[in-house]
Amino acid sequence: MNRYALISDIHANLPALEAVFARIEELGITEIGCLGDVVGYGPDPEACIDLVMERCRFTLKGNHDWGLEGRLHEFNTLAREVLEWTRKRLKPGLLQSPKKQRWRFLMELPERHEEWGALFVHGSPRDPIKEYVMRSDGFLNPEKLLDLFSRIEGRCFLGHTHWPGFTGEDFRFHQAVNGNLEMRLPEGRCLVNAGSVGQPRDGDPRACFLVVEGNRLTWERVPYDVAETQRRIMEAGLNPYLAERLRKGR
Ligand SMILES: [Fe+2]
Repeated sequence: MNRYALISDIHANLPALEAVFARIEELGITEIGCLGDVVGYGPDPEACIDLVMERCRFTLKGNHDWGLEGRLHEFNTLAREVLEWTRKRLKPGLLQSPKKQRWRFLMELPERHEEWGALFVHGSPRDPIKEYVMRSDGFLNPEKLLDLFSRIEGRCFLGHTHWPGFTGEDFRFHQAVNGNLEMRLPEGRCLVNAGSVGQPRDGDPRACFLVVEGNRLTWERVPYDVAETQRRIMEAGLNPYLAERLRKGR
């Protein structure tokens, strides 16, 4: 049976990514997929890109990775400021080969991937880079879910909202929270969110990633040195709010 780990929304948080890779290694998992947003919000884009390039079997394009291509006007001020800073650091000049390699990697990231009988995207099956599949879609926007489900045949794994859990054909969002981090997938189609490595927003500040083994889903929560990431954010001169929110997991 396939057993693999999915990481998403790293957002240039190196201490969180290192802690997650250490946990994946401890679990003996060798197949890793990355669902996008390697950069944005965080202070260590280069090191995170290098690790993901080296360790992941595939990496998808997230909206922040996509934003680096020059579509900064589509982001709110907070996200845009960091993307401008990130773009300045990463954009290669003439003779800087590690920079060129990273930049090409980011520019050439695919929007979707199919493997292990599943579909992988960052956002949603109909708009793989930008659309959010919200927890509330089942009761606020069932037509949207009907359309999304009509586009998939089985499991679709995604990220983007930073909320771990899954939506099944009952259109309910089954949230992965402490005490309920292991779930069995029902038969049929589903949209599964891997959570966020580098900027959790569900109130749990620990890094999050997903382990898939057959029908069993396990969201792993990994403590990491939040204070170190906060220090690096301040040192880089990024908005202090970005450091503050990591402590709260919001
Ligand atoms: Fe994200």
